[in-house]
Amino acid sequence: MLDKVTKLIDDVQTFKTTSKEEIEAFRIKYLGSKGMLKELFTEFKNVDASLKKDLGQALNYLRNAATNKVQELNEAIEDNQVSKNIYGDLTRPSEPIELGSRHPISLVRNRIIDVFSKIGFTVSEGPEIEDDWHNFTALNLPEYHPARDMQDTFFIEQDPDILLRTHTSSVQVRYMENNEPPIRTISPGRVFRNEDISARAHCIFHQVEGLYIDTDVSFADLKQTLLYFTKEMFGKSKIRLRPSYFPFTEPSAEVDIYWGLETEIDYKITKGTGWLEIMGCGMVDPNVLKNADIDPEKYTGYAFGMGIERIAMLLYQIPDIRMFYENDVRFLEQFKSVL
Ligand code: PHE
Repeated sequence: MLDKVTKLIDDVQTFKTTSKEEIEAFRIKYLGSKGMLKELFTEFKNVDASLKKDLGQALNYLRNAATNKVQELNEAIEDNQVSKNIYGDLTRPSEPIELGSRHPISLVRNRIIDVFSKIGFTVSEGPEIEDDWHNFTALNLPEYHPARDMQDTFFIEQDPDILLRTHTSSVQVRYMENNEPPIRTISPGRVFRNEDISARAHCIFHQVEGLYIDTDVSFADLKQTLLYFTKEMFGKSKIRLRPSYFPFTEPSAEVDIYWGLETEIDYKITKGTGWLEIMGCGMVDPNVLKNADIDPEKYTGYAFGMGIERIAMLLYQIPDIRMFYENDVRFLEQFKSVL
């Protein structure tokens, strides 16, 4: 019987499994109420007294070994589960890494900045909440001037007037006040006008305005710069300037580019003319220079301004300006591959 018990001890010690069911079967087999040990202890009662000492020790050893084994195997399974919870299933494929995209307004703004920085323009920025002087008065738009109606304004406070800037020309006034000519700067930024929201207009939009002041700056310089810009930006090299009016420039013009009439979309966006208006421009009015303490006898300059949304709508064929502000990922995702 001792040999049998020794053999069983060996079996118990070498037993291995990671299955809960097999551990339970093992426990029942050895330690259960009708198990092997129960049987052996019953047999043990009838064994010759001379053998009892060794056999008793062996049986106790077997019982402890089986009890420890069950505990050990159960613990191993638990440990395994804990580490599974921490690391998850290490063989699973990894989460796909989503690549973000730039907003089309940023894409176009960055491109405009690139084009102008190549010819020496710096970038200047200013506050969105402005005073009356920088947004209107310094730009030759005195109080009660009818041209103020061209830009419906959001006022924040009255007397003195504090408002949301209606154009980034306000940044150019600040720049002229703080810098000596030669000045060559573009001012990108967000502007606000109290306009009804539709597919073509929004009360918040973005502009880039440019300003160049030096001795002997002429209208020819302005034209050449605009031509360079439209070539770089749109790959189009035909532009025309139509006389227009802005209080801060004299003479003033509206810039059209020849877009072409090759496709149905060309017809639609140019209303069948082939021409598209993209910005306003002109020679800086001497009063504006004077207001910023720049001598108009010595210096001349040109200025221009364009809406970023309008250009983005042209470049990416976006039919509704409201799409820029809805943050619909289905819209934004389409700009992933654009740098
Ligand atoms: N500030 C004008 C606007 O917002 C644009 C402009 C800038 C026109 C400079 C002429 C010269 O409409």
